[in-house]
Amino acid sequence: MLHKSLKPFPKDFLWGASTSAYQVEGAALEHGKGPSVQDVKEPPAGTSGFEVAADQYHRFKEDVALMAEMGFRTYRFSISWARLLPDGTGRVNEEGVQYYSDLIDECLKYDIQPLVTMYHFDLPAALDAQGGWGNRATVDAFLEFSRLMFERYGDRVKYWLTINEQNMMTLAAEAILGIDTSAPGATKLIYEQNHHMLLAQAKAMKLCHEMLPEAKIGPAPNIALVYPETDKPEDILAAQNFNALRNWLYLDMAVYGIYNNIVWSWLEGQDALPQNILDGDMEIMAAAKPDFIAFNYYSTATVAASDGTEKAGHTGDQQRQLVIPGFAKGVPNPHFQKTEFGWEIDPVGFRNTLREVYSRYHLPIIITENGLGAYDKLEQDEAGNDVVHDPYRIDYLRAHIEQMHLAISDGVRMMGYCPWSAVDLISTHEGFVKRYGFIFVNREEFDLLDLRRVRKDSFHWYKKVIASNGENLD
Ligand code: BG6
Repeated sequence: MLHKSLKPFPKDFLWGASTSAYQVEGAALEHGKGPSVQDVKEPPAGTSGFEVAADQYHRFKEDVALMAEMGFRTYRFSISWARLLPDGTGRVNEEGVQYYSDLIDECLKYDIQPLVTMYHFDLPAALDAQGGWGNRATVDAFLEFSRLMFERYGDRVKYWLTINEQNMMTLAAEAILGIDTSAPGATKLIYEQNHHMLLAQAKAMKLCHEMLPEAKIGPAPNIALVYPETDKPEDILAAQNFNALRNWLYLDMAVYGIYNNIVWSWLEGQDALPQNILDGDMEIMAAAKPDFIAFNYYSTATVAASDGTEKAGHTGDQQRQLVIPGFAKGVPNPHFQKTEFGWEIDPVGFRNTLREVYSRYHLPIIITENGLGAYDKLEQDEAGNDVVHDPYRIDYLRAHIEQMHLAISDGVRMMGYCPWSAVDLISTHEGFVKRYGFIFVNREEFDLLDLRRVRKDSFHWYKKVIASNGENLD
């Protein structure tokens, strides 16, 4: 659809950017923090692990000042569960509580609204040792953790996100949930863990509304519209299947409190229905209502029909091309350019995804991740000043903001935009050298150098975008 003129971004649009605790903070075992699952596992091959990361724990004042210089109206960060509750439940680490209290105050000093992710891939190792999300007690522990955050920070934090990318944790269960996906009965086990997370989310949303009537809370999955490879009806069915499994399962549950019928039938067909849905669970799901939908968007996915003869499996990362025999088969899409790390780039797909999500759920949307990972290079200009030229990142973000602007003109209600990431940080499995930030952090994979902060070209560009409320993208 073409528009003669575009509707403006809302006046109070939340421009900002995102990080997550284990990827940015460092101080992994300092000041009373307990280990999370990320601290106890072997670092991904060729990477250095999360001990120091971008050292934001020790440098948050400098980082927040730089965000303020860019004009941020929000900063999305996550709270490390094991920093507040080192054993996952019980004993409170007051030093950890103080750290986030200071970070929140620092943001508010510059009128930057904290947008807090309650859980981002870093379950306390102590809970993992007791069965992690397979253990229903983890739902209660999450509620205890939620209550603690609402009590200590609810006077200052207005925006909360429940669980980051639950759908990616479930689809990549071997990587983040530590489940052997080739073992018999694995699918059932995975979707039982998934049910516990959905329940934990519903209970946390309800508690938030009871304790903090002014606050707003929503889910934060990774949503990517799934395209059919061709116009063959069988490919369209496959796209509907994978859309349901990858996207709608999570949003249907968060918004309507119902299990998506396509996913339910698929689970039933392989004897993998979760057996841990107890009396009362579905009523809790139905009663919990989000105030908005947050989602992370990097690209779309494309699938073809599977006749059931292919071998189940997938390729590498979150852009994994899953093969689910008899259900859908991921395929590359020839229309897209790719990042240095092989991720497809589909800005128009961003508009498509926004339109689809809004038409299905009619809730305001905030984008909590979007961005491009690259090997940025620190250089010196003629005067000897540090510079980082990242035109590829500017191009990526510009194209996505243009499409978001079109989506607003299509009638999609947008609340904010937080690309990944505010500061360079450690990628989930490709180390520090895969950088996403507006702010460069001077370290290499294994050599920590001086960790000094440098404004990239995208920093100066984003500052103009925010100052013009999305009108000036030059
Ligand atoms: C999202 C995660 O999946 O994508 C982030 O929420 C992650 O934690 C980001 O860093 C980019 O992925 P990656 O694998 O390049 O770090």
